[in-house]
Amino acid sequence: MTWRLHHQQRSGQRDASTKSGGNGEVVHHLPAPRAARCGGIVWWWGDSPHRDRGREAPSVERRHLSWYMKPVKRLGVRAKLVLLSLLILIVVSFSFTWLQIRLSRAWFEEDLRTRAVIFAREVAATIGDRNEFENRDLLQHKIRQIMAVRRSVLQLDVLGFDAAGTHIVASSYDARRLPFNRREGELVRRGKVVSHMVTDQDGRSWEVMAPINLEGDVVGAIAAKFSLVQASEREAGLRRWDLALTAISVLLMGSLMGLAVQLVVNRPIRRLVDAIRHVDAGHPGAPARVDSQDEFGVLARHFNEMLARLEDFNSELQTKVKEATYELERRYHEVQRMQRSLSHAERLALAGRIMAEVAHEVGTPLHSVAGHLELLRQDLPAPALTDDVRRRLGVIDTQLQRVTQIIAQLLDLTRRTPGEPENVDVNRLVTEMAEVVRPGIVAAGLVLDAATQPALPSIEGYPNQLQQVVLNLLTNAVDATPAGGRIAVATRTRNGHVELAVSDTGRGIASAEQAQIFEPFFSTKGGSGLGLFISAQIVREHHGRIEVTSQPGQGSTFRVLLPVGEHA
Ligand SMILES: Nc1ncnc2c1ncn2[C@@H]1O[C@H](COP(=O)(O)OP(=O)(O)O)[C@@H](O)[C@H]1O
Ligand SMILES: [Mg+2]
Repeated sequence: MTWRLHHQQRSGQRDASTKSGGNGEVVHHLPAPRAARCGGIVWWWGDSPHRDRGREAPSVERRHLSWYMKPVKRLGVRAKLVLLSLLILIVVSFSFTWLQIRLSRAWFEEDLRTRAVIFAREVAATIGDRNEFENRDLLQHKIRQIMAVRRSVLQLDVLGFDAAGTHIVASSYDARRLPFNRREGELVRRGKVVSHMVTDQDGRSWEVMAPINLEGDVVGAIAAKFSLVQASEREAGLRRWDLALTAISVLLMGSLMGLAVQLVVNRPIRRLVDAIRHVDAGHPGAPARVDSQDEFGVLARHFNEMLARLEDFNSELQTKVKEATYELERRYHEVQRMQRSLSHAERLALAGRIMAEVAHEVGTPLHSVAGHLELLRQDLPAPALTDDVRRRLGVIDTQLQRVTQIIAQLLDLTRRTPGEPENVDVNRLVTEMAEVVRPGIVAAGLVLDAATQPALPSIEGYPNQLQQVVLNLLTNAVDATPAGGRIAVATRTRNGHVELAVSDTGRGIASAEQAQIFEPFFSTKGGSGLGLFISAQIVREHHGRIEVTSQPGQGSTFRVLLPVGEHA
């Protein structure tokens, strides 16, 4: 019971101290710089927490660590707390147990002394008168009786006082009487009870002496020796129990402490560290799951807030990067487009300049030819002007006009103001152009097929320009096809377009050349190299496109696709 009381008191003290100590410890482990550093981005994307930890402790301090502190430094928080509290527990518990043992021993000894005194007084009181006191045999018998009952009494003397000194009246042990000094003897003679402790071959014992009062005088004394051995044995047994219970309670409290530390300190720290590792491994957005209200809770909340801020920042950064990339790409495409249109414009400008020069150079002789033709028509005698001659002169005139027109168109290409588009019947246009070129084709030993699809929808456009396209394609076909070959011109509808195809059985175009033939001035036959360039330009202005398929050595087909009914 005593033990339990002491113990509760002690564990209460321990709890209080641990709590305050624990708090101090926790606060100490949340230093502001660490938290501040946690808030920085560098901490996250830079060094690992391990390297960071290494930097925290200055190396000088490390070198001066004493040998016993080195292993302690390496321990985790949990182990340190448990070890420290165990140490405190052991020291406090065992001190209290030791004190308790000392106190209870003193108490036992005092209790035994009191009993011995009472015993001696009682024995002294049993001697009723002087006769009895002087009857040695009777006293001797009494002593034997008492000794038989009281095992702890080792010796019992009945002493007599007289003027000469002290003599033994009766004794359980004849060899010698119990040793009391003169001062003690004096005290007893004056009616006092004396006692002292001795340690001899019988172990520890109390020796007490109580006076025998007869008719108002102290005539003698009862001296008794009480053994403490039995009591000591009982006390040793109790002491063993005390120590064992203390050890068990220390162990129990140590384990409970470990458990408490695990719950209160270890778990939140591990969760925090897990969350940090998670983020460190490049997986954002896993908050630390610490829901306590203590310092760890505060730390985790700050950590989670910081994580959220970091994530916001990250996504904002990503958005910004995306926007910037998009903007960059847009600018890049714009620049590319500008470059292309620039070179295209440059080419056009160059073509325009050349065309203007060509027009000027060709224009003068053409005018002269036209003038001479007119003069010839006037000068020729009427009989010479047969129908045939008239027709040929007409063709020459038409072709001259066409050449003039083409030159004008060439000039138009650069400074064109084409006027209003009109409905164009592509079938008619094709048939007319076929008739125009047929004589040349026949003369070259070739066959011309014209196949038009009936009820072909009309298109919106500029017939003169489209004529020029057909003429260019036919001219090229004639140029590429040796005698005996075949040239075909055909129309049809295809996917909302009117398709005009010119095919030949000529030399064909190598695939490497196909990419170049629409470039200005590209010619493999010493021509101007402007025919396809101008044709493509015209078709583009009609919102159409030109396709070419060719099989070298077997022939080529040029297809012009013009959208049906659309305004150019
Ligand atoms: N039907 C075709 N068959 C083979 N080659 C062709 C054909 N049409 C055009 N080409 C090639 O395309 C080049 C460019 O034609 P074009 O622009 O009309 O210029 P030019 O006729 O003055 O050479 C020609 O020199 C020729 O090599
Ligand atoms: Mg040509």
